Amino acid sequence: MNIAIDGPAGAGKSTIARLVAKRLGYVYVDTGAMYRAVTWHMLQRNIDPENTVEVLQEAKNLVIELIPDEHGQKVLANEVDVTADIRSLAVNRIVSRYAQIEGLRVKLATLQRQMALRKGVVMDGRDIGTHVLPDAEVKVFMTATVQERARRRFAEMDGSESITLEQLEREIAARDQLDEQREFSPLVCAEDATVLDTTSMSIEEVVESIIAMAQSVQSGRV
Ligand code: CDP
Ligand code: CDP
Repeated sequence: MNIAIDGPAGAGKSTIARLVAKRLGYVYVDTGAMYRAVTWHMLQRNIDPENTVEVLQEAKNLVIELIPDEHGQKVLANEVDVTADIRSLAVNRIVSRYAQIEGLRVKLATLQRQMALRKGVVMDGRDIGTHVLPDAEVKVFMTATVQERARRRFAEMDGSESITLEQLEREIAARDQLDEQREFSPLVCAEDATVLDTTSMSIEEVVESIIAMAQSVQSGRV
């Protein structure tokens, strides 16, 4: 089966998706990393997200690869390893503006569907259950309060980038808003998704509840 996990920034999607994939022996696909890699590439070339014609032209020659490794996955943009760079504040701050571009979304969604053709995939993002894999057997919409999501993200930072918890919370809320309000495949809960509010759940509890959903589908009880 395929498992789709969507939700806003910091809800725990990638942490949980990775663990669920490991437990089930599935492949984890981080679609956010693909949007981040495109963003990194466009920033390197000084191509503004408003300049959609140039973005799409440049994207034609851009090959994004997700390669599983011992730390999770390596992300390559035209063979350059961008795994660490795509997590920078600079990318955080602008990724949702590139992610509004319809042609870019079509290109990445096509790639993502190809990755899920053989099933056995846990894919996380914003539009997986609604748009990329509407037939996924398990769909989860993962959420948590914006305060908790900012707190989690802040706790991950190593101090090399200067930002306060309050600033981070404002930036996350602004990114959520852009993702929710974009015209093409916005962040929205699929009608048939199970909502998981992880605000006061441990990582193990969230993983267990998704494994239970998968088992229940497998045994034909859903
Ligand atoms: O890890 P975090 O939740 O902060 O973000 P991410 O999953 O790495 O996604 C980064 C950005 O990519 C999101 O804020 C969206 O703008 C965009 N994205 C998207 O539009 N559609 C997806 N399926 C995944 C990410
Ligand atoms: O992918 P997404 O942006 O939704 O979240 P993430 O990158 O997985 O970040 C979530 C952070 O919160 C990680 O540092 C997790 O260890 C932590 N966390 C969680 O994911 N889930 C919980 N129930 C509690 C904490």
